[in-house]
Amino acid sequence: MTQDEMKQAVAEAAVERIRPLLNDDTVVGVGTGSTANCFIDALAGVKHLFAAAVASSEATAERLRGHGIDVVDLNSVSEMAVYVDGADEFDKHLHLVKGGGGALTREKIVAAVAKEFVCIVDSSKKVDLLGEFPLPVEVIPMARSYVARELTKLGGMPVYREGFVTDNGNVILDVHDMEILDPKGLEQQINNIVGVVTNGLFALRAADVVLMGTPDGVETLHD
Ligand code: A5P
Repeated sequence: MTQDEMKQAVAEAAVERIRPLLNDDTVVGVGTGSTANCFIDALAGVKHLFAAAVASSEATAERLRGHGIDVVDLNSVSEMAVYVDGADEFDKHLHLVKGGGGALTREKIVAAVAKEFVCIVDSSKKVDLLGEFPLPVEVIPMARSYVARELTKLGGMPVYREGFVTDNGNVILDVHDMEILDPKGLEQQINNIVGVVTNGLFALRAADVVLMGTPDGVETLHD
């Protein structure tokens, strides 16, 4: 199975997993990235079974609307059954690194609201220790240099993602060489730096389940 076929397989598995949750009132949270795109395309096949979606990025909103799926503002939603999204890395506790596509803040907000977070990945995303993938940090533009200095003090090497602006009008620092031994602690520590909007560690709100595409099929992983 190629990587694209694995993404396709987990996307379809995610639709089957959430199918029992779908009814006329169900709002589905939808992530961002190439795996989430496969999920959106698969979700289109059951669009008659649920009410609407909340998108974690402008790109996702556009793709959902392209399939005729109603996209609603998160503020109009009192309950969200499930959020489905990809990740850049995950560990055995289902802690994630996300934000390779720069949508981390909206992703974290939608994940916080959802009752269940289903993460869909191919097997290349599994790591023993998070941090091989540079950790994205969304930053208010005027705080960029200050935040970079603070991240350096934490042991990382921040690199400005040049030419990229998030959907929220902010910038991204990708932190290389960060030793992530305590994902929850580091998530809090980075979020406490003034000027940081949020960082790409999803440990305080980890995934509830990971559907991992492998050459032999889809594996369901729990903490
Ligand atoms: C978007 O900002 C990210 O958090 C994505 O969820 C992550 O980068 C995974 O993307 P792929 O599915 O394209 O690997």
